[in-house]
Amino acid sequence: MIPVGMPDIGDEEIEAVAGVLRSGMLAQGPRTAEFEEKFARYCGTDHAVAVNSGTAALHATLLALGIGTGAEVIVPSFTFFATASSVCMTGARPVFADVDPETFNISVESIQELLTQRTRAVIGVHLFGQPFEVNALREICGERGIPLIEDAAQAHGAEFHGMKTGNLATAGCFSFYPTKNMTTGEGGMVTTNDADLARKIRIFINHGQPEKYVHTCLGYNFRMTDIGAAIGLVQLKKLDAYNIRRQDTAAYYDGHVTADGIETPVVVPGMTHVYHQYVIRVTPECRISRDQLAIALRDNGIGTAVHYPIPLHRQPVFEECARKGSCPVADRLAGEVLSLPVHPRVTDSEREYIIKSITEVT
Ligand SMILES: Cc1ncc(COP(=O)(O)O)c(C=O)c1O
Repeated sequence: MIPVGMPDIGDEEIEAVAGVLRSGMLAQGPRTAEFEEKFARYCGTDHAVAVNSGTAALHATLLALGIGTGAEVIVPSFTFFATASSVCMTGARPVFADVDPETFNISVESIQELLTQRTRAVIGVHLFGQPFEVNALREICGERGIPLIEDAAQAHGAEFHGMKTGNLATAGCFSFYPTKNMTTGEGGMVTTNDADLARKIRIFINHGQPEKYVHTCLGYNFRMTDIGAAIGLVQLKKLDAYNIRRQDTAAYYDGHVTADGIETPVVVPGMTHVYHQYVIRVTPECRISRDQLAIALRDNGIGTAVHYPIPLHRQPVFEECARKGSCPVADRLAGEVLSLPVHPRVTDSEREYIIKSITEVT
């Protein structure tokens, strides 16, 4: 089976982990500090704070921004659960915006309709590896004096008019889950140019301790291990090459997925897409349905996935906050999207086989 996602772990990562294990400094050691410094430099930000997941990155950032009970935070409905669950963890309420039918990213018009006196932040997601409309969102947030958070969990190394994700708003939140563009096993990072915000995040991720055994707030243990950071340091060196390979496979698919009724990803001028996922739309004009295509590919040994089958405004857990039926584009996409294997370990012959299989069944 050609998997739809998988990490690329080699001898260098294994050696780096062995080095940490031999050192005995498994947590809060030199590798985490080095990874933070190098990741910040990569993104072009002044600060980076390593954490143990992308969800923790979002949660700690929201807490450090003072988001809590009574606040509303606008998030897209078409994204992974953690974009919104992290808002709920603070006591605030996620408000679900619809998305753009071409880029699948948060819709600027939808945000305008949802702003209220209680809106305290907006989280934009660089979905599948393409940056959202940063300038328009910065303007909306700037006018109200509220922070804009980048959920960059799927967009390491993507660029908006030459600027790296993580350096485009108040803070950027990354995930290093194994299928992401780079991994630490589990892990995350917050990037920011705001020194005070970085300092507060460091307190929240370390039991609310600005100094040892002095607890000034109820924080969490969201710290990254040095084992994860050692993997991350190796993966960061490979990130650009990984992204180039993803872009190459995406360009190959763009040129070869030609069936009627199948739409390939739209890249907005000025955006550098890093294809965390290569997501096609199987519209009603296609000879077969999205689910039939997924089954046919599976029968040919090709893994695919649906990101995401249920938009967040339809999730049972968000029943209280959702205005059902208010995100028609997200609803439609949930029935039409299909992710094809685009990770860097997909070989030339595998991608040729994937295209041959799609062409045969559509
Ligand atoms: C858009 C988005 N946000 C947040 C997260 C949460 O990251 P993690 O799984 O590392 O907690 C993910 C991970 O899948 C994601 O895709």
